[in-house]
Amino acid sequence: MGRSVDGRKPGVNEPLRPEVSPKGGTEPVCAPCRCTDEGMGILRSLVRGSSAKGAPAARPAERPTNPDTHRNTAPGANPAAQADAPPGPSSACLELMGKAKDLETLPAFATRMLQALDDPRTSPAVLAAEVSHDQAVLALVLRTANSAYYRSSGQVRDVTEAIVVLGLDTVRQIVLARLARTVLRRNDALQQMLWRHALATSVAAQACTRVIRGVTVAHAFTAGLLHDLGKAVMHEVAPAQYAEVWELTGRSPRTSISLERQRFGTDHAEVGAELLKAWTFPVMYQSVARLHHEPEAIAAASDKERRLLAIVSLANAVAGWLGHGPRPARPIDEMTEHPMLDVLGAPPSVIGRMAMEIEVELSGLVGIFG
Ligand SMILES: [Fe+2]
Ligand SMILES: [Fe+2]
Repeated sequence: MGRSVDGRKPGVNEPLRPEVSPKGGTEPVCAPCRCTDEGMGILRSLVRGSSAKGAPAARPAERPTNPDTHRNTAPGANPAAQADAPPGPSSACLELMGKAKDLETLPAFATRMLQALDDPRTSPAVLAAEVSHDQAVLALVLRTANSAYYRSSGQVRDVTEAIVVLGLDTVRQIVLARLARTVLRRNDALQQMLWRHALATSVAAQACTRVIRGVTVAHAFTAGLLHDLGKAVMHEVAPAQYAEVWELTGRSPRTSISLERQRFGTDHAEVGAELLKAWTFPVMYQSVARLHHEPEAIAAASDKERRLLAIVSLANAVAGWLGHGPRPARPIDEMTEHPMLDVLGAPPSVIGRMAMEIEVELSGLVGIFG
């Protein structure tokens, strides 16, 4: 993005309007990520450099059945499978989140920037002022604008120009990635591992969308990035206790979910979903956080939700299998029986593709986001 339909760059003081995609029409958006399918190709391209220009075009995004809630409201949809109507949070979850009160509020930089990005009256100059308030976002925006993929002539030094070059989708994805990194703010060894796991899952999920139709690259990447935020909250509240859970998960056949429930009375799936709910993130991301360890619930979910859920669940497993998680790496060919392959109707070869994408792109993303 970054250019208008007639190829002109918008003027600095012109409002940023929804992009008209090369595929025709405006792409669907979802607040607060409001992403189209173009955006994450961009972060991918940032890692790959100019070679991404030759990458296959992303498939058209699917319009959510209900863009406000992402619920499948079609006749015949199974209401029980609508993951946005779970029982209320457990008292243990509420207690834990009460100890991380400051996380419960969307960080100020994200609130301001996502609001500015969502307001069609926002000019690049105004958005530039918001971006300039956060040094990390500012650095990422300038770095991306100067990547081989974007830089058409000369160096982009001015943040307003960088925003015009990048476009809203890319700036939005940068803000979301910065947000996820902010939650993992302790930056100790465990949170570094959680961050690598989040990025590895995102990258694997986006690779999967090239085989599985009906989920946008941007939705898959964002859902992958946010799926385990509950772990960061639990670690923030009780670092030593959570480090024990992590270590125990690494050497026991028990799942992190069961160990967390034993120690905390709640688990990262519930906590993460409640955090995203508190941030008023779209229901589909809340569902991914809540259900990514529940294959039966995924299989029973509505058609719209099932694909994203299954993709992130599979991506989570691939990332873990490669060693980006509490357990040591295992041979990836042992994963060909994963139940999400059946749910997605995907060939086992998709696992190799996802693993390859992690190998190729993870270190580049870690280099960009820290
Ligand atoms: Fe998880
Ligand atoms: Fe995970």
